[in-house]
Amino acid sequence: TYKAVIFDLDGVITDTAHYHYLAWKKLAEQVGVPFDEVFNERLKGVDRMGSLNLILAQGSATYTEEEKVALATQKNAHYQELISTMSPADLLPGAVEALDSVRQAGLKIGLASVSRNALTVLTSLGITDKFDYIVDASKIARGKPDPEIFLTAAERLGVKPEECIGVEDAVAGVQSIKAAGMYAVGVGDPAVLSQADQVIASLTAFSIADFLN
Ligand code: BG6
Ligand code: MG
Repeated sequence: TYKAVIFDLDGVITDTAHYHYLAWKKLAEQVGVPFDEVFNERLKGVDRMGSLNLILAQGSATYTEEEKVALATQKNAHYQELISTMSPADLLPGAVEALDSVRQAGLKIGLASVSRNALTVLTSLGITDKFDYIVDASKIARGKPDPEIFLTAAERLGVKPEECIGVEDAVAGVQSIKAAGMYAVGVGDPAVLSQADQVIASLTAFSIADFLN
């Protein structure tokens, strides 16, 4: 039986995945490397420096660690500008209903986001108190697709990995859930998220009843 659902944030609960895309696109243009939505799928769920390294690897120039930190800081400033006006109106359809249905069914609720902006976004959305435990970048050493973030959430929720359902929009995120030994619900395109156990178009299609017995 399932005892917890662990949600990703960006691209699952709110459309910040699009803001990350816009901010990286601007940076890619600035350093002169090609960038599109298809390449962006590889960045979803990947932490800030990891994403930057993937973008810079598309070009031939080399950068010092200092230059990389400056570029990452620039991207983050642009991202923070994009999210500065977020409010509860930016919750994706079905998000609150999904969280509340899990709570009502008596399961625990976790959040697993590698974003250093996760707490800011949750506060803007007004949903911080809906989670029993929040794991963000400050609590883990290895990002997705490593299972550490989902395993940490399960441990802190006091449940076994096989008792957890993970919900993700990113390829790296689904890989992290599966590596943790959990059931993976993908949110998005089934062709992209082929490693998930189940793929839904949005949280409006999330049904906790399907997991209860
Ligand atoms: C993930 C996003 O949630 O957080 C990635 O899917 C992003 O696109 C990563 O790069 C890190 O976010 P931040 O806010 O720490 O730069
Ligand atoms: Mg995501």
